Amino acid sequence: MNKICDDIAEILPLYDRRAKKYALHCYFEQTIWILKAHDGPVIISQVNCIVNEDTLFIGDLNVFDKARVHQKFFGPIRAVLGLPPKTRDYQRKGLGTNILKFLIERAKKQKLRRIIGNLFPRDLAANPNLPRWYQSLGFEMDATGKPGMIQLELPKPTKSSTITDGGTLH
Ligand SMILES: CC(C)(COP(=O)(O)OP(=O)(O)OC[C@H]1O[C@@H](n2cnc3c(N)ncnc32)[C@H](O)[C@@H]1OP(=O)(O)O)[C@@H](O)C(=O)NCCC(=O)NCCS
Repeated sequence: MNKICDDIAEILPLYDRRAKKYALHCYFEQTIWILKAHDGPVIISQVNCIVNEDTLFIGDLNVFDKARVHQKFFGPIRAVLGLPPKTRDYQRKGLGTNILKFLIERAKKQKLRRIIGNLFPRDLAANPNLPRWYQSLGFEMDATGKPGMIQLELPKPTKSSTITDGGTLH
């Protein structure tokens, strides 16, 4: 059985800008990191990463704008009536920023040297602020802000660096 899907390695508190608390379920394997943020039973964000030697590759980073709201009573009624499930937008609450900050800290603690990812044309078209956002977190990219690779070089680990838990995410 796939260990990543069965065992939750860590559940950390995650907060949005208004200090609302969520749960960040972290699955850390040697080469695969998966983070899933939960609002109660609802998954509101997922990040899939691959670790290759000293590099963390963010393959997919999503805070959902149409997370399905858990409605124990009205959910089945809506379904019977042929209505679409109720959804909620979790973007622009500071969750993506806090999750990315957590990944950066975790990568440092694992003594990785860089984080890379891709800025896809569709994401850039939907959110033209993405280059500025990544830059505000220290990432470098094409100076013109065009789609392409994003990269963050991490400081060289010192001899005294230790691996501790991820802590609380504000
Ligand atoms: C990009 C993403 C992960 C950011 O997560 P988030 O929780 O919305 O981010 P935050 O609330 O921390 O906001 C980060 C910045 O992104 C901008 N932003 C977020 N969503 C936006 C949207 N739909 N349109 C325009 N700007 C947006 C905001 O301007 C914000 O900057 P600010 O703090 O100066 O206002 C999320 O919007 C998302 O999943 N988008 C769809 C997939 C995607 O583009 N992934 C990134 C692949 S490179």
